[in-house]
Amino acid sequence: MKNIYLVGFMGSGKSTVGKLLSEKTGMEFVDIDQLIEKQEKRKISEIFEKEGEGYFRQKEKEMLEKISNKEGLIISTGGGLGADAENMKKMKQSGIVIWLDASIETILKRTEGDTERPLLKQPYQQLKKLYENRKKIYKMADVHINVDSKSPEEIVQEIMEKWK
Ligand code: S3P
Repeated sequence: MKNIYLVGFMGSGKSTVGKLLSEKTGMEFVDIDQLIEKQEKRKISEIFEKEGEGYFRQKEKEMLEKISNKEGLIISTGGGLGADAENMKKMKQSGIVIWLDASIETILKRTEGDTERPLLKQPYQQLKKLYENRKKIYKMADVHINVDSKSPEEIVQEIMEKWK
């Protein structure tokens, strides 16, 4: 069975939806950010601070390489992983890629007060630019779900209808 990859910007609900989808399908859920934190024995915020973003992106690629050799997993990816064309290609070759598309307003609401995500510290205009640029790659996903004003249950329902 193919893997299911969830991609989308920070705060689009990849982990919540992934866990629920795992409950409904019985497929195993994994979160690439969590796997990296476990491997590195430190938080992503600390990896960014001590090693820089480039190091983290390399760890993401390595983890994706490992995961893409497995089967039947539901995989939540970090917002930057799915915004890289090479990563997108790898995911599409080894599974079905689902883009959880949230508006910038939804993203800002959901991530308000978040101190764990380093990239949320940048000014709004810069964040918006990143959001717009990333969409160009997210769009290459196999399935597109608009997640604004939908519950995780509704999103999971829609995914199950669309991916078959
Ligand atoms: C990032 C998103 C985060 C995490 C890291 C970088 C990004 O994951 O991988 O902070 O570049 O958008 P979430 O999308 O799960 O927040």
